[in-house]
Parts: sequence; C-alpha cells; structure tokens
Amino acid sequence: MKYLTAALLLFIIMAGSCEEKEPTETVLHPDFSLTLSALSDLIEDQPVPVKNAILARPEYFLELISEALKLPDYTLVLVDKKHGLLPGDKPEHLVSIFDYGLKVSRRDLQVRASVVPDLLAMNEAARQAGLELVHSSAYRSYEYQAEVYQRNVETLGKEQADRESAQPGKSQHQLGSVIDFGSITDAFADTPEGMWLAEHAWEFGFSLSYPDGYEDVTGYRYEPWHFRYISRVGTRLERDFFNGIQQYLLEFMVLYRTSNY
Ligand code: DAL
Ligand code: ZN
Repeated sequence: MKYLTAALLLFIIMAGSCEEKEPTETVLHPDFSLTLSALSDLIEDQPVPVKNAILARPEYFLELISEALKLPDYTLVLVDKKHGLLPGDKPEHLVSIFDYGLKVSRRDLQVRASVVPDLLAMNEAARQAGLELVHSSAYRSYEYQAEVYQRNVETLGKEQADRESAQPGKSQHQLGSVIDFGSITDAFADTPEGMWLAEHAWEFGFSLSYPDGYEDVTGYRYEPWHFRYISRVGTRLERDFFNGIQQYLLEFMVLYRTSNY
C-alpha cells in the first residue's frame, strides 16, 4: 500500500512537471521558419489594420508571400524617395505598347515584355466594358526622368514639383512596369476609364501607386493615372493584407528580406 501511494505521488509530480513545460510553437508555413510569435514580432510596427489582417490569416499570408518571393525582383522592389535605382538600371527586354495595337498618346512608349500579358488582358476587359484605355507614359530612363523632373521644377517650383515628380533614380517609371493613363490630370479620376481602372486594375496585377490621402506615406500627392504592375499575387496581398496600400506592401517586402526568416 505504501509503495502504491509513493508511486501515485511520483506520477502526480511527473504529470505536473510535464504540464509546466512550454508547448513548442510550430512553424506556420513549410517555406519559412516563422512561428506565430516570431511573425507577430516581425510585423510589430506595421499599421494596425495590416497587423490585424495578417494575424487573422497568417498561413494564407505566408503562402502568398512565398509566391511573391518567386517573382522577378522588379515586381515588388521598393522605389520611392528613399530607395532609388542606379542610372544604369534598365529593363532587359522593353517592347513597344503601340506594336500590340493598344491606344497610345505617343508612338515611342515602351514597357517590360513580362508586363504585356496582363496589360493586354486588362485592355481587353476594359474593351468589353465599352472603354478604350489610353496609354500616355510608360518606361522612362534615368536621363529622361531627369529632364521630366527639371521641367517640372521650372514650371511648378521645386516644392510643388517634389510632390508629383520623382527625382532621377527615384521614379517607378524607370522599372518599365508603370503606365500613366489618360490625361495625366486630376480630372482622370472622374472619367469612365479612371473609375474603371480604380475598380478593376488590381484584377490584372496593376496597383495605384499614389492613392488619395496617403501623401505622408508615399511621398507623392494623389495620382489617379499612375499604375504599377506588381503581379496578381502582389495585388492580392495588397488588398487582403496591406489595406490596399502598395507602399505598405513594398515596405514589408524590404523588412522581410532584411530579416532572418
Ligand atoms: N509622378 C511620379 C511620382 C514619378 O515621377 O515617377
Ligand atoms: Zn506616372
């Protein structure tokens, strides 16, 4: 009886000590070493809606990030006032937009060849909605952006120019994956094409770079005409997890790439 009591006591003590052990956290996705608490730490400084969206569906978030990391670098590289490109950075394969039968405001507009399939799909969807998109600006070399910026400084003054024109090396246009549509004026937002793009561009991987009310985040005033191709995975991430703000997504990609996960 004595032995039985002692064995029972020992069992209770051992069971107790097992319970005290911290459960080992599992990784959320096979492609990453991230556990839920590591992911929470990584996104600690993100805007609240971004944090909440990620923590509500962390496995799905990482699945999309895993897909995004397989894309060519230009797709989700951050190019803004603090993150620039070199004068020699130029897309390997540029093609003429006009040669695909799309409407252009000038014949010499070029984009990266890899943007073309989704650009054509978007134009076809707009056509089916009874609209014809006008392509007004696309790839700009470092040197050409220097001219554009200088012209803007001369006509608007430096302070205003810096709100709507990137300095050479700091323009997304140098990536070859940006298109300015229509009149390139504020009035474009209220045209049928402007409204259609605002609603549907994301379905084809195109994202509005400078949305209304986010100048303090992007560095530029509202540009309803300026769309950057960030791929369909990119726009899915932007909508579902980054509050529809391209800048938040691209800044996260920088943060992730500099982390050890
Ligand atoms: N208008 C945008 C900011 C550019 O110049 O690239
Ligand atoms: Zn633009």
